[in-house]
Amino acid sequence: MCSLSLQCCVEKSCKTHDGVMSSVEGSLERLGLDYIDLLLIHQPYNDVYGAWRAMEELQKQGKVRAIGVSNFGVDRAVDLAAFNEVTPQVNQIEINPFQQQTKNIEALKKEGIIPEAWAPFAEGKNDIFTNPVLEKIGNKYGKSVAQVIIRWLVEQDIIVLAKTVKPERMVENLNVFDFELTEDDKTQIATLNQGESQFFSHYDPEMIKWMASRNLNI
Ligand SMILES: NC(=O)c1ccc[n+]([C@@H]2O[C@H](COP(=O)([O-])OP(=O)(O)OC[C@H]3O[C@@H](n4cnc5c(N)ncnc54)[C@H](OP(=O)(O)O)[C@@H]3O)[C@@H](O)[C@H]2O)c1
Repeated sequence: MCSLSLQCCVEKSCKTHDGVMSSVEGSLERLGLDYIDLLLIHQPYNDVYGAWRAMEELQKQGKVRAIGVSNFGVDRAVDLAAFNEVTPQVNQIEINPFQQQTKNIEALKKEGIIPEAWAPFAEGKNDIFTNPVLEKIGNKYGKSVAQVIIRWLVEQDIIVLAKTVKPERMVENLNVFDFELTEDDKTQIATLNQGESQFFSHYDPEMIKWMASRNLNI
């Protein structure tokens, strides 16, 4: 599977409908692929309407299978759906035990948008891999903290975008389909929620300006 986040949509140099079309053509060529499984708008800034209409066209042409967004509030995703043909199929947002996003997840599902978790391990922040609550749950099932977190997400029907460069961890992270969390486990995990991003706010004007100044072309 090839999933591509369309980072160029926040760039000044690539903000138009035509910019998206040429960016995807370029990516397909460099990847040596005929189509991409999932194409996302990375951030809810700049000309997301132009980008979205280009993505709808690319989907019709069979160059992408599914299209979605990332870091969109539910309101912005619904707005995009209401005034275009295709409802975003995925919204990739930060979801981990410290930023559980329960209400957003519920609202996305209600709109038919599948939540996808980026940084499911909070990139290791707050000593997540030695968190006593998660370790205690894992010990009951002979599972690691990473496996408990992935299982917790899978049981909520959330797509998990867990990153590792280590083959043995890739195997470990996939090995989560032979146990189930109890209601008590889930209640314990709920206590870890801090209700805010472990990284930054997408509503912070300074952050938006910083993103607009970046020059990423993929
Ligand atoms: N849409 C967005 O705005 C956005 C933002 C941030 C990230 N993302 C994407 O989300 C994906 C995952 O996020 P992320 O990499 O930021 O954070 P993450 O998946 O929460 O954490 C990755 C870290 O966890 C470690 N790890 C993975 N499996 C482990 C295991 N079983 N045991 C112990 N440590 C383990 C990795 O180390 P090793 O690699 O050394 O194993 C790495 O340090 C990436 O593909 C990233 O591109 C998207």
